[in-house]
Amino acid sequence: MAKYLIQKSAPLKGEVEISGSKNAVLPIMAAALLSEEECTLRDVPALRDVEVLKDLISYLGAEVNRIDTNTYTIQTREIKSTEAPFDLVNKMRASFLVAGPLLARTGRAKVYMPGGCTIGARPIELHLKGFRALGAEVRQDEVGSYVEITSDRLVGANVYLDFPSVGATEHIMMAATLADGPTPIQTAAEEPEIVDLANFLNKMGARVKGAGTETIKIDGVEKFKACNHGIIPDRIEAGTFMIAAAITRGNILIKNAVNSHVKAIAAKLTECGVVIEDTDEGMLVRGDVNPLVSTNIKTMPYPGFPTDAQSPFMAFLTTVEGSSVVIENIFENRFMHVSELNRMGANIKIDGRSAIIYGNRHLEGTKVISTDLRAGAAMVLAGLVADGTTELSEIYHIERGYENFVEKFRKLGATIIRIDD
Ligand code: EPU
Repeated sequence: MAKYLIQKSAPLKGEVEISGSKNAVLPIMAAALLSEEECTLRDVPALRDVEVLKDLISYLGAEVNRIDTNTYTIQTREIKSTEAPFDLVNKMRASFLVAGPLLARTGRAKVYMPGGCTIGARPIELHLKGFRALGAEVRQDEVGSYVEITSDRLVGANVYLDFPSVGATEHIMMAATLADGPTPIQTAAEEPEIVDLANFLNKMGARVKGAGTETIKIDGVEKFKACNHGIIPDRIEAGTFMIAAAITRGNILIKNAVNSHVKAIAAKLTECGVVIEDTDEGMLVRGDVNPLVSTNIKTMPYPGFPTDAQSPFMAFLTTVEGSSVVIENIFENRFMHVSELNRMGANIKIDGRSAIIYGNRHLEGTKVISTDLRAGAAMVLAGLVADGTTELSEIYHIERGYENFVEKFRKLGATIIRIDD
């Protein structure tokens, strides 16, 4: 099993180029199943999750060609299977997103379901509520190992989401593009990845309006056309490097990030004393100007503070003056990194959905694990400021979602290597 060895590093300095967004590209690849025509996708990050979805959509009938490192063409002349088998979906929860496009295009989807994951139970009832509203029949076996959805013809309908779920909004948007008539989605998620998916669908010929607000309206169309789309930069990767500048008291120029997508992270870092400047070349993040102090964080749907940046930010808060409170409102079990950080010398106490982080801690390198993708990123950040060597295992989580993570950190001066044990 591969591991990272991380040593205490000098303050990170230099520039980093942000890759295409993992959470934008996955639904877009699934949406490419909707069209018979060729979709060209640029700025696709080279990630394990992208490979997993490529295998799944290829199995379902898509011809996927990699033109160069970050450019793919996807063309689905016909759907060859309406069933997504367990061995292809169990590697990644976002695989479920193929159900909507399969249903819209063929009238049937049977998708085996991965269980919950380390960050929470990850239910799908909001997705299914949307499909039912569009007139589909939904069947699940008793233990919920698969879901089968059928419909002769999807008919546009009002969909109210009880919570602005990112996946449910994406899924219903995709299915509604080929339904008869209009589908307004109320309490829709407003994340930038939703806007990117809407832009992609519209380039294919869909009629989606209002993405990025709480009401999205989709007017069904008959057919799609070829399109060419560049994936938005990854706001969580950008946030991770912003926090890296802060935790190492470094000075990093972040290129290619969309500043408006990382406003909440920037605001919280600024409250701690980090200086952030917009320059012609990118966002300059300086943790080396002021003494850094504590702050409190509540994760919220966009534009609130993203749950995906919670664990890296918590690693940073262990190093500042004062105590901080972090409240995780999105996932019920996203504090798995806390015990790992405490093993390195942090002092973090959990009480339900809140964590109190006592600052100014002296971290020591030890053997720790990545319990999920973002927890892994948090451990790398902690390792950069811990004395000695941090040996981080289960790094496949990190490689699922960060392109060239080690190389990017090394370029900024970090002492980190990947070894095969
Ligand atoms: N939820 C329900 N019922 C549903 C759907 C969701 O109760 O039918 C709950 C979830 O259990 C969770 C909350 O709603 O507690 C938020 O879930 P959401 O559906 O918004 O998240 P997701 O679509 O499953 C995406 C990202 C996550 C990111 C969340 C929140 C992708 C592939 N994944 O997940 O990314 O944390 O939105 O922003 O887009 C990551 O990148 O590390 C990651 C976990």
